[in-house]
Amino acid sequence: MHQAIAILDSGVGGLTVAKEVMRQLPQEEIVYFGDTGRAPYGPRAPDEVLKFTEQIVEYLLQFQPKMIVIACNTATAIALKHVRSQVNIPVVGVIQPGSRAAIKATKTGMIGVIGTENTVTSGAYPRALQELNPDTSVVSLACPALVPLVEKRLYRSDMARTVVSQSLQPLLNSPIDCLILGCTHYPFLAQMIAETVGPRVSIISSADETAREISTLLHHRGQLETSGKVPVHRFFCSGDPETFQAIALEWLGEQIKVSPVFWQMT
Ligand code: SIN
Repeated sequence: MHQAIAILDSGVGGLTVAKEVMRQLPQEEIVYFGDTGRAPYGPRAPDEVLKFTEQIVEYLLQFQPKMIVIACNTATAIALKHVRSQVNIPVVGVIQPGSRAAIKATKTGMIGVIGTENTVTSGAYPRALQELNPDTSVVSLACPALVPLVEKRLYRSDMARTVVSQSLQPLLNSPIDCLILGCTHYPFLAQMIAETVGPRVSIISSADETAREISTLLHHRGQLETSGKVPVHRFFCSGDPETFQAIALEWLGEQIKVSPVFWQMT
């Protein structure tokens, strides 16, 4: 049976993962939900993030997906385990794949992580990185000002450059050799982030590695799409569909149709 991959995020950040899935697995159909009406999740109470994630998962299950991808670091840090215990299809998060990519890339074992307040407070990255290699040193920094720049489509502005540079100041004297973009919104700002931290620091986005994990899982489960049909992706958001569409056009390079979903915005 033909089944889609469901991808969810607090907003447009998960498009960075969706784009990689489209590139690596061009036959797969995606059903995407961006909770743009309630983003950002970073400063919200963890039980609220858990409740919103559960609600979106329930919404996406109506499409009978073969897999759920929590393409939001904050929701992964808070809700991944819980969602896995609630559904009977595979659930992929972005923290493990991002950590694996960083462990492969680092030469010194000194890894930086930037993310939302919730992601940093959860300690999910240091835990994942140290499980992969106990000798790793991790420097974490919360950058709460970055997600709003992306959601408001300001990621190419001079203001974004200033905010990125100010947000990353505490990392500039740190001896890290790679920096994990521990929020799926940050790849929109990757060039500004790279220019701020300088060429000695490799920038790690979890999107490629997450798409690889999806591919491996589907392969092992014999669920890779092979029909040869052109997939018809579906996008839903809880906020303004026009902003979502404009950002998707810039990021994915294609015009998409976005359906607004109206539900209680608490
Ligand atoms: C957020 O909504 O605050 C960010 C999403 C993420 O952590 O990837």
